[in-house]
Amino acid sequence: MTNTAKDKADAAEVVVSGKGVGKTFAGGSVVALEGANFDIERGKFISLVGPSGCGKSTLLRLVAGLIDRSSGELKVHGTSVKGPRQDISMMFQKATLLEWRTAIENVLLPTEVHRKPTRDDRTRALELLGMVGLKDFAFSYPAQLSGGMQQRVALARLLQTGADILLLDEPFGALDEFTREHLNVELMRIQADVGATTLFVTHNISEAIFLADEVFVMTSRPGRIAKVVDVNLPRPRTLKMQVEAEFNHLVEEVREALGAF
Ligand SMILES: Nc1ncnc2c1ncn2[C@@H]1O[C@H](COP(=O)(O)OP(=O)(O)OP(=O)(O)O)[C@@H](O)[C@H]1O
Ligand SMILES: [Mg+2]
Repeated sequence: MTNTAKDKADAAEVVVSGKGVGKTFAGGSVVALEGANFDIERGKFISLVGPSGCGKSTLLRLVAGLIDRSSGELKVHGTSVKGPRQDISMMFQKATLLEWRTAIENVLLPTEVHRKPTRDDRTRALELLGMVGLKDFAFSYPAQLSGGMQQRVALARLLQTGADILLLDEPFGALDEFTREHLNVELMRIQADVGATTLFVTHNISEAIFLADEVFVMTSRPGRIAKVVDVNLPRPRTLKMQVEAEFNHLVEEVREALGAF
C-alpha cells in the first residue's frame, strides 16, 4: 500500500460505534437516550449539541463506560464497552483540581493512579502545560489561577493520560465568551496535534460547528441523535469564519434539525 492509500485507510478506521444505543433511568420511566446509531472515525472532532436533558452527558458517560446502556451495542476500538478503559479520558465543566497540589502535580494525577511518575512523566506534564499556555504556572496552586487557567490545567491533565479518545462535557461552559473562544481555538490546535478522536458536548450551536468535523444534533424526549451535520469548513479554522455565509448555512441546518425555528 502506498503511504497515501495507507493514510486514507487509517483515517477511515471507526474507533467508536453505536447501534441502537439506548439508556433508560429510574426503572425505565426516563428514556435518556433512544436508538442512537453512529460511527466515529479516528481523529475526528465530533460536537454533540442539543437542549438540556436530551442525553448528551448520558451518551458521553456510556462511551466512557461510566454507566451501562439499557439496549443496543456500543463498541470502542472494536470491542464492546463494559466499563471504564484507559484509552478514554473525560473532562467536565468544573476543573476539579486538588487545591493542595500545584498545577503540575494535578496534571500528574492520572499517572499516579497507575504508578509512581517518572522523570519522563514530569517532562511530558511540563510540555503539556506549555501546550495549554501555562509554562510559567506549573508550580502555582489552583487558588492562584483564574477559572480559565484552571480549565487549562484540567485539559493538560486530560492529555497526560495519553488516551486517544477524549470526551469533553461542556469543558469551557462556565467561562466568559472571550476565554472560551480562545480555549476552543487552542483545543482544536492541540487536538489536531495529538490526533485524538474527540467528543465535545455544548449547548452552543456556533461553538459546536466551529470546532467539529461532524455535529451530532440531539433532540429530547426521548433523547435522540436527530441528524448528523457534516462540517466541511477548511482547517485551521479562524474565528472570522463564523461570520461567513457558509458558516451561517450550517447554523441554519443545525437549528432546523433542532426544531429551533
Ligand atoms: N443518574 C440518573 N438518574 C436518573 N435520571 C438521569 C440520570 N442521569 C440523567 N438522567 C436523565 O436523563 C436525561 C438526560 O440527561 P443528560 O444529563 O444526559 O442530559 P444533557 O443533554 O447532558 O443535559 P444538560 O445539557 O442539561 O447537561 C434527563 O432527563 C435526566 O434527568
Ligand atoms: Mg449534560
